Amino acid sequence: MEYFNSDYFTYSENELLCEQVPLTKLAKEFGTPLFVYSKNFFVDRYNELSEAFKEINHKIFYASKANFNINVIKIFNDLGGGVDVNSAGELFRALKAGVDPQNILLTGVGKTDDEIRLGLEKNVHLIKAESEEEVLAIDKIAGEMGKIASVAIRINPDVDPKTHPYISTGLAENKFGIDSKLAYDLIIRSSKLENIELTGIDMHIGSQITTIEPFVEATIRMVELYKKIQAAGISLKHFDIGGGIGVLYKDEAPFTPKELADKLIPIFMQIDAEIIFEPGRFLTANGGVLLTEVLFTKKNSHGKNFTVVDAAMTELLRPSIYKAYHHIQPVLKKDRNDVIMDVVGPVCESGDYLAKNRTISKVSRKDILAVMSAGAYAMVMSSNYNGRRRPPEILVDKNKYYLIRSRETFEHLLYDEEIIDLAE
Ligand SMILES: Cc1ncc(COP(=O)(O)O)c(C=O)c1O
Repeated sequence: MEYFNSDYFTYSENELLCEQVPLTKLAKEFGTPLFVYSKNFFVDRYNELSEAFKEINHKIFYASKANFNINVIKIFNDLGGGVDVNSAGELFRALKAGVDPQNILLTGVGKTDDEIRLGLEKNVHLIKAESEEEVLAIDKIAGEMGKIASVAIRINPDVDPKTHPYISTGLAENKFGIDSKLAYDLIIRSSKLENIELTGIDMHIGSQITTIEPFVEATIRMVELYKKIQAAGISLKHFDIGGGIGVLYKDEAPFTPKELADKLIPIFMQIDAEIIFEPGRFLTANGGVLLTEVLFTKKNSHGKNFTVVDAAMTELLRPSIYKAYHHIQPVLKKDRNDVIMDVVGPVCESGDYLAKNRTISKVSRKDILAVMSAGAYAMVMSSNYNGRRRPPEILVDKNKYYLIRSRETFEHLLYDEEIIDLAE
């Protein structure tokens, strides 16, 4: 079998470590399933991206939807980044992490009036509007509150990001943003509203994008629009290119931030704007693993091997909903033959699997497996389905480790739920 190694998850004497901490130790101490994150992966990726674009005026707003543990948010905030939030709940988390509201962008294709009101009340840096009705709603609510709302218009540039259809967001057929052909007129109309200050334009064309071309194509279109808006006398401050930078899960060959910068900086140079980035996956995905214990192995009469583990779609939904690939490898390397197996969870769904037809060295009961690339879109998509309790999260910093969220208790499953008296 192949092993997924990085500077942050490496084998030493046949044992997988996160930075300098052995993963068997963490599995023993905290139980499984268990998320383990490398702090220095997060820090290095942030610095790598920021360094690549240092020539231009830019700011990174971490897309907290990727991993919203407040300690993870705080790491990026401490590095000087802002935070992109997609709901009132994520806004609440960012504020709890100590993020200054002026470093928060409020995103979301369907914000409620209460969410808009909350964003204005907290004084977030800006609210992104994704439809004319939303622009009008923001204007009305801001007026009622006696405020001027800073608003950026999210535009759908109609570019194919060549990624999984469920995480493609910048095609005309996708629900996100405002149609690029309608955007200019809408911006002109919006600029006349009393309670809104239009501060910029925004795009986010998709996630897990592994080629530079879609970014270049979309950025060229958006920069043209930016110039046209400025020429109409509306002065904008920023251009937000969104997130979407792809990462290595299996055999992709994603571009580096430096390669992206080499292509985009000359285009950005055509306008005098702060460039905003909203990466999530790039900053976190390969900084995390999900540890899981082998419960049972079995083989059916057709020769198919199943490895039943204690993690499931409730901890890592991506394989079930996107058929996403996550590399799986034993935490302790043993000299065993390879076996082709399905790695499946305990949830009552045939769609509950972590890997299908995967070649992994033979496993047995109680072995600990590491499901790689689980730092993004993993814990945040977890659920209590089948009465499962969400797992703990550990943050590793060199040879130290910290419990940053503990395993849910059975009481969590009943949060505020009580038997009521239905008797007449
Ligand atoms: C508006 C917006 N910004 C940023 C992101 C982060 O994307 P990624 O994790 O691919 O960088 C997303 C993800 O869906 C998004 O919808």
